[in-house]
Amino acid sequence: MILKEESVAPEVANPKDWSPASWQNYPIKQLPEYPDQQELEAAYEELRSLPPLITSWEVEALKNKLADVAAGNGFLLQGGDCAETFADCKSPKIVNLLKVLLQMSFILIHETGVPVVRIGRIAGQYAKPRSSDYEIVDGEKIMNYRGDLINSFKPDAEARKPNPNRLIEGYKNASLTLNFLRALADEGFADLHHPEYWELDFMKQNKYYKEYETMVNSIQKAVSFMESITPNQFNTLQKINVYTSHEALNLYYDSAQTRKVPRREGFYNLSSHMVWLGNRTRDIDGAHVEYFRGIRNPIGIKVGPPFEVDETLRLIEKLNPVHEAGKIVLISRFGVNKVQEQLPEFIQAVKREGFPVVWICDPMHGNTFSTDNDVKTRNFDDIITELRQTFAIHRDQGTYLGGAHLELTGDNVTECVGGAKGLHEGELHRNYETYCDPRLNYEQSLEMAFLLAKEWKQSYKQ
Ligand code: PEP
Ligand code: CO
Repeated sequence: MILKEESVAPEVANPKDWSPASWQNYPIKQLPEYPDQQELEAAYEELRSLPPLITSWEVEALKNKLADVAAGNGFLLQGGDCAETFADCKSPKIVNLLKVLLQMSFILIHETGVPVVRIGRIAGQYAKPRSSDYEIVDGEKIMNYRGDLINSFKPDAEARKPNPNRLIEGYKNASLTLNFLRALADEGFADLHHPEYWELDFMKQNKYYKEYETMVNSIQKAVSFMESITPNQFNTLQKINVYTSHEALNLYYDSAQTRKVPRREGFYNLSSHMVWLGNRTRDIDGAHVEYFRGIRNPIGIKVGPPFEVDETLRLIEKLNPVHEAGKIVLISRFGVNKVQEQLPEFIQAVKREGFPVVWICDPMHGNTFSTDNDVKTRNFDDIITELRQTFAIHRDQGTYLGGAHLELTGDNVTECVGGAKGLHEGELHRNYETYCDPRLNYEQSLEMAFLLAKEWKQSYKQ
């Protein structure tokens, strides 16, 4: 078999003057300095010596699948927590997230008829950008929480200092999570054909309920049919692929796990299949972009205000100078008030340049607001509206919207208002768990999958 990257010029596979640590010569945003450099070096060296979490084969397989999505044959479903925490590295959380991602993907496959690529924001999504470096707690100015990979949520000055031992702890939690995820995925999650697993009663309030019910019955019939024709139960559902992703924000974590592998050119980030540049870490001359330009993994780029079209094009060119298909995933996140005005020119420019990107929509991050009681939330209607508008814009431009990027959980949390059950602001306190951004709960996520499938069909199915 000829490996795809063999056709890539060597200077591109190994960009000039680049190494996994060359980012350290560039200005970095969103990563405070570690107070003890010796401790940091020791943790970094230890992390460098630990085995990789994933393989380059998996990375290349994912890139191939994303190339299909870019060409209009597939759909990317990327979802998970805003911030994973070490404390939540527990069986039910992982099971529930995988379950909701699988159910959503079944709905999408059934309705669209195209393959669905599932990527969790999981097994490494431990570092967060923040809008301010400090907060005031009991009159004292302390560093803000930046995710478990960097410091502690506990609001005291000592606990908020960046602690390099968290790099190792993050790696260990990621590996425990991934180990369980792989075991669950390998066994094909056989319970999914039981109707009671779908917990659809909440949909009864929704005007599309009859359609949903028919769809789920039909999915269950298809699963039973496969069961009856294959000698081993769920043979065909086995080896469900689930890939991992996180924002590569704490570059000590990512660069310590960036390695060369035998018989392939270039360097791979072996902590996660896909990594993305956040809306606040994509400066073209900054440390994050310097790191990203040297890795072979697929790269997500958040595209939202304030981002200029020219800068976006330069960034894509810098990260993917050979225009490899499946390499760049553009994640638009404009918010319901700006998407119609701003997204079209980005799409036109990328189309004009002929960049083979995957366009997906993150309808979450442009639609966050605080209630009168200062609770951070999002409205399901805004989320859906941005998605619908994004589909409509791509239809108008003749381009393909190939996926969605969502903050969601398989648990019954109350963090976003709206949805079929009409969760209102007064109910948010009931089960508000997130340390960071509000997520869709199980029911809102399934409802989202139904609506996504409807929009996709309307846009792309003859
Ligand atoms: C996120 O995805 O959690 C995030 C912080 O998004 P953005 O960088 O788009 O604001
Ligand atoms: Co978020």
